[in-house]
Parts: sequence; structure tokens; C-alpha cells
Amino acid sequence: MTRYAHITGWGHAVPDQVLTNDDLARRVDTSDEWIRSRTGIRERRIAAPGEYTSTLATRAAAEALRMAGVHPRDVDLIIVATNTPDYIFPATAALVQDALGASKAGAFDLQAACTGFVYALTIAADMIKAGGIHTALVIGAETLSRIVDWEDRNTCVLFGDGAGAFVLEAAEEPGGVITSVLRADGSGAELLMLPTCGTRHPVSPKALEERLQYLRMNGREVFRFATRVMNSATREVVAKAGLSLEDIHWIAPHQANRRIIEAAAKALKRPLDDFLLNLDRYGNTSTASIPLVIYEAAQEGRIQPGQYGVLVAFGAGLIWGATLVQWTGPRPARKPPRMAWHRRVAQVGSWMRRVRRQVEGLLAR
Ligand code: COA
Repeated sequence: MTRYAHITGWGHAVPDQVLTNDDLARRVDTSDEWIRSRTGIRERRIAAPGEYTSTLATRAAAEALRMAGVHPRDVDLIIVATNTPDYIFPATAALVQDALGASKAGAFDLQAACTGFVYALTIAADMIKAGGIHTALVIGAETLSRIVDWEDRNTCVLFGDGAGAFVLEAAEEPGGVITSVLRADGSGAELLMLPTCGTRHPVSPKALEERLQYLRMNGREVFRFATRVMNSATREVVAKAGLSLEDIHWIAPHQANRRIIEAAAKALKRPLDDFLLNLDRYGNTSTASIPLVIYEAAQEGRIQPGQYGVLVAFGAGLIWGATLVQWTGPRPARKPPRMAWHRRVAQVGSWMRRVRRQVEGLLAR
């Protein structure tokens, strides 16, 4: 029997606090006009002091589970894709497992920068298709506001906090997560990184003085790389699925910069309307950006069962990738099927045979 991995629930969580471009212009030398024209971003969400990547992830996951009608104890695996885990270890996924009460789930974090959600979705879907697990929670969650240098106008205007989650379930009907392409080129590692907090440059007074605990980026080079791979990864995944670009109904791109998405639309010869967009309201939420934009599109009815969509992302590493899905949506409410009369008779028969064997065993002693 061929197994498929369907997306049967989706959820989201964003902090309440909104930081507008005008708010930023009061902190650094920038303007609403510059940010909007260079990036398309108008505002972003910022986590409150008591909010962490794990709490945003848990809220998004709980909503996705409710939609799928799946109890947390029936989850086999939780993957949290994140660049801003609560701790280097333990895994944020383990904190989410505990908060949800997913008592039978394995849990781990996945670090593939902004492409993390595409990687996590691919791994979970492939495990389901191979028969190793039945139900998975795939989460992208970030509190990037905690690693952004609020004195650096080149980067602080770009990022925001949030989380998105999918429930994946095994099914016999074709559809769901079809195939992916995953790529990396570590020769570009220095273009986008958080220099300290790891083991190469442990936290030290000198590192803090040099502000190495904050994200650093060569924006121009990342821009060039992003426009190239959005096009190539989308084309590759569509070809791998045996489809053509005309078969694709929508594209969910990583929400980094509207100009990068416009360049991808041009290269793919598709209207911008085919691309799901919400970066104007959330900025770049890294691993959360794709599940967040799909969440909104699905809730608005913009994406429909049966449609083909491509999720395409790029980020630090350099790492990039794309996943092709056939959207299905939540299953109809599941009731235990009524047992056919002949199966009930067979069940009673087998029960009576078992009792007879036990009685005969007792009498024979
Ligand atoms: N406000 C005002 N001016 C700013 C600014 C800001 N927030 N940020 C940068 N500038 C200035 C620069 O200092 C530079 O000034 P200079 O020429 O005097 O040195 C000028 O604007 C132009 O900088 P440039 O880098 O050419 O701008 P750009 O058009 O490439 O846009 C980015 C900058 C960062 C928006 C763009 O390069 C980008 O989006 N790159 C990809 C980033 C990304 O997606 N990262 C995440 C990957 S997951």
C-alpha cells in the first residue's frame, strides 16, 4: 500500500505587539518610505517579555491539532524548525512536547535557517510515507527580535517574531506532501550568521563588546543568491514531481523581501498574484514565514483542496529548498466506523472460542 502524508491541520501564533516602520525610524536612521520601497514591509510583531519561541510554537501547534481533530497523545513526532531556540539545548521541540502533553511523541529541533520549515516538512512527510510514523507536528517558530541588533538599520528593519504549524497524517488517498528539493552551499556561510553563542566564538566580554551576539548579514549578496535560487528550486521541484509550472496554482515563498518575490515571479513568468504574501504585516519571520502565509491563505479560502502549491525558501548556510504539495485540508470529522454485522458475528465467535479454550485448559488441570 502506498502511503501519503497529508496536511490535515494548520495553526499560527503571533505576538500582540506591533512595531511599525515609523516606530523604527525613532530608533535608527531610517524611514517608512525607505523600508517599504526596499522591502515591502510595513510592520512586524515583537514578542513580549514572557513570550519565547517555545510558547509561540506551542500555541500554533495546539491550534493545528484542534483543526486536525488530533489529540496530542496521538502525535508520533514533533519537529521545531528554528534559528532562535529557547536554549542551545535542550531542544525547543521537547519543551513544546511537554507543554502539549504529547506523551508518545519524539521531538527534535531542526536548524536549516529560513529554509528550516521546508526541511522539517520533508523529513516528517518522508517518515510518514516510509511507514515509521503516522502523525507529525511540523512547526516553524522564531523570536528573532532577541537576536537582532536594534542599532543596525541594515538588519533590524527586516525581521519579526511568530510561529506556524502543520499537522501531517498518513493516508491512503493520493495527495499531501509530494516531493522536495533540498540544497546547500556552505561556502556562503559568512554572508548571514550569528557569530557568537556557538562553540567557535563562545560568549565573552570581548564578543559582546563587538556585538557578535547579534545577526550579521551582507544584504546585497543574500539578495542576489535569493533571486537565483527561488527560481531554480521552484523549477526543479516541479520537474521532479513530473508536473509543469502551468500545473501550479500558488507559490508560498519565504517572506523576506517583496522585491525578491517580484524577481522570482518575473523569472518564473508567473503573475505576482500567484504568490502568497503577508510580509507587509509580519516582516521576515524566518522558519515561520511559510506556514504563517499558508495559514492565512487557507483560512481565507485562497487555497483549495486539489490544488498544487510550491513552498520555496532560502536563507543562511547558505541553504535553500522547495516542496511541492497537493493541498487537501482537514479530514471530515472522524467517527469510529460501524462494524459490519458479519464482522461482529466473527468477533463474538472468536471471543467464545477463546473462553472455551480457557475453560478446557482449567478442566484439564
Ligand atoms: N534605512 C535607510 N537606509 C538604509 C537602511 C535603512 N533601514 N538599510 C540600509 N540603508 C542604506 C545603506 O546603508 C546603503 O547606504 P550607502 O549606499 O550610503 O552605504 C543604502 O541604504 C543602500 O543599501 P543597499 O544594501 O544597496 O540596499 P538594498 O536596495 O540592497 O536593500 C536590503 C537592502 C537589506 C533590503 C536588501 O539587500 C535585501 O533585502 N537583501 C536580502 C536580505 C534578506 O532577505 N535576508 C534574509 C534572508 S533569509
